[in-house]
Amino acid sequence: MTDSELMAAAQRARKHSYAPYSHFRVGAALLTKSGKVYTGCNIENAAFSATVCAERTAIFKAMSEGEHEFEALAVVGGREGETADFCAPCGVCRQVITEFCPGDFKILLGNETKFKAYTSDGLLPFTFTKQDL
Ligand code: THU
Repeated sequence: MTDSELMAAAQRARKHSYAPYSHFRVGAALLTKSGKVYTGCNIENAAFSATVCAERTAIFKAMSEGEHEFEALAVVGGREGETADFCAPCGVCRQVITEFCPGDFKILLGNETKFKAYTSDGLLPFTFTKQDL
């Protein structure tokens, strides 16, 4: 699976986004080391804090099926009907990403035609980890 294909999978996952409050639709695609792809979208709730982001949906879907080894994560987002040039993972998602995909893990951000690779460390330096407990 190429980086472009993973971005395309994230874009497709956006179609399932449930975002009647923000109208901001996000898709994520998580590639496992074994070559499987778990997708996710943001799922909002009338009690706003119950909303789950696309990245965490994808990660939790994979973890809940026993996957623990990940290769890359792609994220695509934007207002309804458009795709933003760049959709930054929120702070909570960055914390969750570093728990399961630490260090130089590859995170693709941008859109289907133009994107860049970042790392977990780069997106969340000085992370609070299990070593701190
Ligand atoms: N959102 C994500 O799905 N991922 C992020 O990392 C940023 C924010 C969603 C949450 C909410 O449904 C909408 O975007 C607006 O914040």
